[in-house]
Amino acid sequence: MRHFITLNDISAAEYQRILELAAVLKKELKQGKMSAPLAGKMMGMIFEKPSLRTRVSFETGMFQLGGSAMFLGSEIGFGKRESVKDIAEVLSSMVDVIMLRALRHKSAEEIARYSRCPVINGLTDQAHPCQALADMMTIYEVFGQIQGIKFAYIGDANNVAASLLRSASKLGLKFALAAPEGFQFEPARLTELIGTSPAAGFEIQLTGDPAEAVKDAHVVYTDVWVSMGQENEEEHRKKVFAPYQVNTGLMRQTRKDAVFLHCLPARRGLEVTDEVMDSPQSKAVQQAENRLHAQKGLLVWLLQE
Ligand code: CP
Ligand code: NVA
Repeated sequence: MRHFITLNDISAAEYQRILELAAVLKKELKQGKMSAPLAGKMMGMIFEKPSLRTRVSFETGMFQLGGSAMFLGSEIGFGKRESVKDIAEVLSSMVDVIMLRALRHKSAEEIARYSRCPVINGLTDQAHPCQALADMMTIYEVFGQIQGIKFAYIGDANNVAASLLRSASKLGLKFALAAPEGFQFEPARLTELIGTSPAAGFEIQLTGDPAEAVKDAHVVYTDVWVSMGQENEEEHRKKVFAPYQVNTGLMRQTRKDAVFLHCLPARRGLEVTDEVMDSPQSKAVQQAENRLHAQKGLLVWLLQE
C-alpha cells in the first residue's frame, strides 16, 4: 500500500506514469467514454482549511471513476474531538482512500502512519503535491515537454513552491525562484527538496530579483503572498512582497511564448494583476481543470496499480 504525502513518495518514473494515466483519462472524458475502474470505492476527504478546487476535483474525479467521495469538515473535530490516530484507524476501516487538507504537515504524516488505506495530501503547510501534478500536466500540454523547461516561481517559498521545486528536480526542469530575503527556502530545506539525484536537465537559480528569474522562462508562476494560516502576517507580507507582483511589465521580460500559471485562488491586484490573469498567456483555468484529470490519474495509480 502506498501513500501520497509528498512527491518523495513516488519515483520519477511513477510521476511520469501518473501524468500518462491523467492524459488518457482526460482524453477519454472529452470523448465521452466512461469506465468505472473505482466502482464501489469511497474516498473520505478531511478538510481543516477551505477549498474549491481540491474538493470539487476529488469529488468529481471519484464520481467519474465510478466511486464516491465524502466531505468531512470541521464537524469531525479533527484532533480535538478524538485523536488523529483514532480517526485514521476508524476512517480507513470504512473507506478505500483518504484525502486530507491539514493545517500541519505532521497531521498528514500521522494519518498515513495509522491508516489501513492510501492517504493523499490535499495540501499542508509544507506541500501541495496534487497541485504540482496538475501543473506539470499543464506544462506538458502547452509545450509538449517537461524536461528542460525553464520555470520561474515569483513570490513566497511556500508549500506550493516546495512541491514545484521537488517536481523540477524529479522531472528535470530549470527552476528559478525569486523571493525576498527571509522568504526563500532555508538551506536544509532546499537540499531536501532538490534531493540526492536530480534528473538530467535540472538547474536551480535563486535570486531576489523577479526580472532575473523570468529571463528566458517558459513558465512564470506565482501564488498568494499570505497562505491559509498566515493571516496574522498579512500586513507585513503585503509590504515585503509588493515588488514581486507578476504584471505585464514582468511578463514582457520573458520569452514571447511564455505562459502564466497560478495554483489559485488568486488575490488579483496583489501577487498578480487582472491584466496578466485575463491575458491569453494565462493558463490558470486550464491548470485548475487539470487538477481533476491529474488526480484521477493519481487515484487509478494508487488504487489499481
Ligand atoms: N489550488 C487549490 O488547491 O485550490 P483550493 O484551495 O480551492 O482547493
Ligand atoms: N499557498 C496557498 C495555496 C492555496 C492553494 C495556501 O497554502 O494557502
